[in-house]
Amino acid sequence: MAEEAILGYLATSEEIPDSDQFASQHGFQHNDVVNVIKSLHGFRYIDAQDIKRESWVLTDEGKKYAADGSPEIQLFLAVPQEGSISKDELQKKLEPSVFKIGCSQAGKNKWVDMGKQVSRKVQHVEDKVKDLLIRIQKGEALCKDDINSLKARKLIVAQTWKGYSVKKGPNYAPTRKKVATDLTRENLQRGDWKELEFKEYNFNAKGPPAEAGHLHPLLKVKQQLKNIFLQLGFEEMPTNNFVESRYFWNFDALFQPQQHPARDSHDTFFLEVPSTTRELPEEYVKLVKRVHESGGYGSRGYMYDWKKEEANKNLLRTHTTAVSTRMLYALAKQPFTPKRYFSIDRVFRNESVDRTHLAEFHQIEGLVCDKGLTLGDLIGVLNDFFSRLGMSKLRFKPAYNPYTEPSMEIFSYHEGLKKWVEIGNSGMFRPEMLLPMGFPEDVRVIAWGLSLERPTMILYGVDNIRDLFGHKVDLSLMKRNPICRLGID
Ligand code: PHE
Repeated sequence: MAEEAILGYLATSEEIPDSDQFASQHGFQHNDVVNVIKSLHGFRYIDAQDIKRESWVLTDEGKKYAADGSPEIQLFLAVPQEGSISKDELQKKLEPSVFKIGCSQAGKNKWVDMGKQVSRKVQHVEDKVKDLLIRIQKGEALCKDDINSLKARKLIVAQTWKGYSVKKGPNYAPTRKKVATDLTRENLQRGDWKELEFKEYNFNAKGPPAEAGHLHPLLKVKQQLKNIFLQLGFEEMPTNNFVESRYFWNFDALFQPQQHPARDSHDTFFLEVPSTTRELPEEYVKLVKRVHESGGYGSRGYMYDWKKEEANKNLLRTHTTAVSTRMLYALAKQPFTPKRYFSIDRVFRNESVDRTHLAEFHQIEGLVCDKGLTLGDLIGVLNDFFSRLGMSKLRFKPAYNPYTEPSMEIFSYHEGLKKWVEIGNSGMFRPEMLLPMGFPEDVRVIAWGLSLERPTMILYGVDNIRDLFGHKVDLSLMKRNPICRLGID
């Protein structure tokens, strides 16, 4: 064993000057000797000093020439002893890199005449490069000039070799005493605990990593958003149905015309089974049909033939506003009470996936339903909500949604990116949507929506959405991700 050999050697000798020599003299691997030295040094049985040596090793190119000969010799040998060979012919005989380097080196050495025709200038040459490379492989020392020329041609590189010189340490003993790490029942029975030497506690050692479940960043941000909504007095809407009747709760009831481009098959996932919904509230459906076709409540409607078959088709909801619509419909059936609702859940869009888009993502949606609300109330609520997320500088831009009027895109100033970024969409639901549900005429609903992924990516510094969500996510992300708090810089 290397340990016994080292301790034994030091019993009679002052020093082991070089761990490498020691290893080869005693038939050990240098690596094993180094490990033992580190351990014995840790327990102060020995003192170890670093020694470093620079040595030269062949690069891959160097190894090739040591085996096959240098390019210049290969080129020289390809030129006939008498007469000449055309440069094109010569090129065909050699590897491209050998030809290129060979031409320049053999020319420099004045071995050949380089022209359209190549001929030998001397009859006999020696492959000094190959000889030098072989000497390096054998571990021989070369003179400075030779080293420099090989280094310049990138045929060798320096390698630092590390080893140790070793002397006795303050705790030196010819054999290492075994220290006990545990006090066992047997130690107590035998009574040998009195003589045992125990290993000291290492209070600086790291404990084993805790094996526990970890929350996904989206879940953590979602929880914080929920808390914000709850603090503001919002109730959570039930969002546990991903499938909606295609053009009813997802689009029609929202006064979104059946030929609207957003309903295009490109943007929507349809269901094959069951392909249609079983029941819709028929009385309400009639009112929705009428408002689409001919308006009412002061509106002209869209003036087209509204088709029930279209409304019956099932799809994966494209926004959580479908849920808000169902909730408002249910609310309108009761004696009026003001409400604040929110939801955070998954939506689906048939989009091509890239760094910022996924076919499924999460929407955060909030709405307030009360009499006499104005756009000023919407702006006030948005300022309050977003400032709790740490976004206090907001700007609004007029926008268009089929179901809100007026509508506003929400922008926030991003201190890191030093620019205004779009963070959400908002508006006041149209009377064409609210009145068929049966709300009193002076009831207004202000609402807004944003994605959960966007703020999570900003908080967690993720720049590709596929690293956050979906089948390409690295699971260690869940273990490593820190706690990021909304609204705190
Ligand atoms: N449903 C909208 C969207 O998908 C967001 C929104 C919600 C807009 C509520 C206005 C009001 O982007």
